[in-house]
Amino acid sequence: MAAVCRMLRLAAARYPCRPGVFRQFSAGPSFQYILVERKGQSQNVGFIQLNRPKALNALCDGLMTEINRALDSFEADPQIGAIVITGSEKAFAAGADIKEMQNRTFQECYGGSFLAHWNRVSTVRKPVIAAVNGYALGGGCELAMMCDIIYAGEKAQFGQPEILLGTIPGAGGTQRLTRAVGKSLAMEMVLTGDRINAQEAKEAGLVSRVYPVDKVVDEAITCGEKIAQNSKLIVSMAKEAVNGAFELSLSEGNRLEKRLFHSTFATDDRKEGMTAFVEKRKTNFNDH
Ligand code: CAA
Repeated sequence: MAAVCRMLRLAAARYPCRPGVFRQFSAGPSFQYILVERKGQSQNVGFIQLNRPKALNALCDGLMTEINRALDSFEADPQIGAIVITGSEKAFAAGADIKEMQNRTFQECYGGSFLAHWNRVSTVRKPVIAAVNGYALGGGCELAMMCDIIYAGEKAQFGQPEILLGTIPGAGGTQRLTRAVGKSLAMEMVLTGDRINAQEAKEAGLVSRVYPVDKVVDEAITCGEKIAQNSKLIVSMAKEAVNGAFELSLSEGNRLEKRLFHSTFATDDRKEGMTAFVEKRKTNFNDH
């Protein structure tokens, strides 16, 4: 233990000007590229802030690995009922790290399944809310779209500018953007590299709400708290059912919904929810 502490002290001395380096999340892992905290009055909202300000939160491999680790921690934490991911006021994330990708070969990308570990956000069972300020470009837009809900600050900008770099989106942009905003706008954005602003993103259905820049993170946390007050078990079922709409035919999706709906009747929390209503009292869910 003493040796570990000495290593951390040495490392902290070596990287004095990089905020977030070796910041601890409870007794769990330490992080270099992100800040990880619990938020909300009941400390039941997991909070991940991308923290590479000088690179506009470009998503280097290390940063994505850290996001995955933080998500694993929150997913396993029974107290956490929702997760918020945000960046800085200038940039949610300006995309995959172009400097890191610049000299990669096809063989390295294909052989190493480049970006294969980027989709952890989309497999988390707890709800994830993106609070987007500034640039959400390329992989940054894709990261936001992997989340379940997107709130945007008034100056947010969304885009898939990969075409301008001689490549195409590689973390779900062509698929999720098209499902979110429809073919015409998705094509326009992917083929021209043009960005849309927060209001346009709202009108197109990419984001659910737009807030002043300094309010969007708090609003996302408030939304997370509201979700976390519900049964975590039932929230996961509801999320699974909505996500079915993106993968399944209408009849298959309705079948999945029905099965999950029936399954809620096997839980304590369904019984508690309805009993509390009838008894005109507040619910007391136990996530069982
Ligand atoms: N990767 C690596 N570094 C990046 C970066 C990125 N995606 N985006 C910005 N940076 C770096 C810049 O190189 C610069 O670093 P230096 O100070 O060392 O030169 C620093 O961040 C600040 O950037 P700018 O000086 O460019 O800031 P700006 O305010 O003038 O412009 C911007 C902001 C319009 C976002 C511009 O930085 C930009 O166009 N960035 C690239 C956006 C992009 O193409 N994203 C897609 C990446 S590919 C991808 O994401 C593939 C995928 O599907 C996963």
